[in-house]
Amino acid sequence: MIRLNIEKMPVLPQVMSGILRLGDDNDTSFSDLEKLIQADMTVSTMILKVANSPLYARNGSIKSLKQAIALLGFKLVRSMVVLASTKSIFADGKYEKFRKYVWKHSIVTAILAKAVGQRKGSNRNIQEEAFVGGLLHDIGKVILNAHDRKLFIEAMNLSLEKEISFVEAEQKLFGFDHQMAGKAAVQKWNLPYPFDIIAGSHENLAANSINGDVKENEVFYLAAYANHISKLLGYGHKGDIFSEDAAILESKLNITAEDRKFFLQELPPQLKQDEFFKFCVTLV
Ligand SMILES: [Fe+2]
Ligand SMILES: [Fe+2]
Repeated sequence: MIRLNIEKMPVLPQVMSGILRLGDDNDTSFSDLEKLIQADMTVSTMILKVANSPLYARNGSIKSLKQAIALLGFKLVRSMVVLASTKSIFADGKYEKFRKYVWKHSIVTAILAKAVGQRKGSNRNIQEEAFVGGLLHDIGKVILNAHDRKLFIEAMNLSLEKEISFVEAEQKLFGFDHQMAGKAAVQKWNLPYPFDIIAGSHENLAANSINGDVKENEVFYLAAYANHISKLLGYGHKGDIFSEDAAILESKLNITAEDRKFFLQELPPQLKQDEFFKFCVTLV
């Protein structure tokens, strides 16, 4: 059995660990945010690009990061920073299957987590947190890929061919899975709650007995439910809405049959028209 070597973990971009530790949207955080972003060219370019996109109809008039942050708001900028930084840690997997089953799946999960929150009346901060949670939920797969890319490809193939879950295939080949790796990474990077439980326990809620208060774990539930929906929409592997986990999440989030129909049938064509979604797709 292979041991998980935490020394081999990718380094979390400074801008991302910084921003996930920044507290609320008070004045200090705003200037801290600006300083953090300034230090990273890729991230600053992306924030300016979004602020000047048709989404905000400013016709290229946003010239400074300060203006962009004021326009987009703290939490959205935070989501964008995580998106840009995640892209850079995901960049190692420049092969088709990784792009499809890890990177694209993560982006879609992020967008869905926010959309589920929106539909179920979560406040905007929670919606943005859920977006970040969705992006990071499978970060353990990035760790496994960095650990041993050949073996990770084998695990993905095994999962796809044998119709077993990624977790089972990873367990077979690595002796540990992407949730264990994700949890270890989040601890090493010192990321705050709820990212630890999102990365560490999104796949098997029943077994992990995550059953706490809904308000307390709202972000976690949104990200975990979005993971299911994302797979069901074909962005991932082996979705099952009738699994025990999906049932737990639907009851926690109060998902009705109508909500489910909305997420599976009405939302996807709407998303394809969404400027932010289109922007995210350009990143894949
Ligand atoms: Fe996962
Ligand atoms: Fe996932």
